[in-house]
Amino acid sequence: MSKQEVIISHQLEESLKQAVDKCPHDKLFILTDEHTQLYCYPLIGEFPYLKDAISICIGVEDVHKNLETLAYVWTQLGEKGGTRHSLMINLGGGMVTDLGGFAAATFKRGIKMINIPTTLLAMVDASVGGKTGINFNGLKNEIGSFAPADCVLIDCDFLKSLDHKNILSGYAEMLKHGLISNEKHWSELVTFDMDKIDYKQLQNLVAESVQVKEKVVEQDPFEKSIRKALNFGHTIGHAFESFALEKERPVLHGYAVAWGMVCELYFSHLKVGFPKDKLRQTIQFIKENYGKLEFTCKDYDRLYEFMKHDKKNVADGKVNFTLLGEIGDVHINQTATQDEIYDMLDFYCETL
Ligand code: GLY
Repeated sequence: MSKQEVIISHQLEESLKQAVDKCPHDKLFILTDEHTQLYCYPLIGEFPYLKDAISICIGVEDVHKNLETLAYVWTQLGEKGGTRHSLMINLGGGMVTDLGGFAAATFKRGIKMINIPTTLLAMVDASVGGKTGINFNGLKNEIGSFAPADCVLIDCDFLKSLDHKNILSGYAEMLKHGLISNEKHWSELVTFDMDKIDYKQLQNLVAESVQVKEKVVEQDPFEKSIRKALNFGHTIGHAFESFALEKERPVLHGYAVAWGMVCELYFSHLKVGFPKDKLRQTIQFIKENYGKLEFTCKDYDRLYEFMKHDKKNVADGKVNFTLLGEIGDVHINQTATQDEIYDMLDFYCETL
């Protein structure tokens, strides 16, 4: 898989021009969803070099990340004269970069694409690393491919209009990147003031966070080994996310990951000696900023079911975890018994 270029933009018009110039094309398409069409497209729509761009707009959120929307995008590309020399700009959150990325990777066997993530979660995670796809038959990201964008352009000005909950959701993935990388970065993250956001400082943290992800993906683009480091917090996090959805109290992905990290840090401490002081400091940060998903021990069986049915977590019938012996000391392919998982859930309930 080729390495994608990531540009941390300080001047969107100029940075995007550079990115577009590097992708010679006959026609240029800009994919948005109904939100980014309204709030983000106006920030780029006036740039002179985009004056002939053809806009394609899809519905918002995960319910539209499906085959029907994908077919709509393919149809639009075809009907509006797209060829294999066309370029697509995906302007939006993870849903747009995932679905748009897959549409671009498959239309005429693949056209060039630029991702402009507009949410923090998409900036530090979804838009970088080449994972694209759609949900299918009720399963998340069931159909897709590894298809890195030619360029990912990150401009933190988009974050100024993002609500606090969505900032926190993306920030959880940044915290994960801190935990799997180095102590300095982790320390900057857990001391950052989330109540009074300094956007300049946030931009620097985002740049570092993206580098962490890029480095991991470069070593293992197809998730055969060390890319599993990026799954830290996600085994239990995904179960929390599915559980909350089932109870009709949906939570943002990053919140579920933050709570999942509380459990998995505790298990890391027990199993591979993650230090107690850093465990406490990280949990304190999560407790203060993310609150708690309420459940009781009566819900453990259901949560365990979700873990066992998540294809990403299960190997040889066992629930798989990525653990940390220290900040940056990643242990992949670890497993936990049912009792150990229930012990993690006890810890969560007693601590948060
Ligand atoms: N979101 C985790 C990964 O890209 O591997």
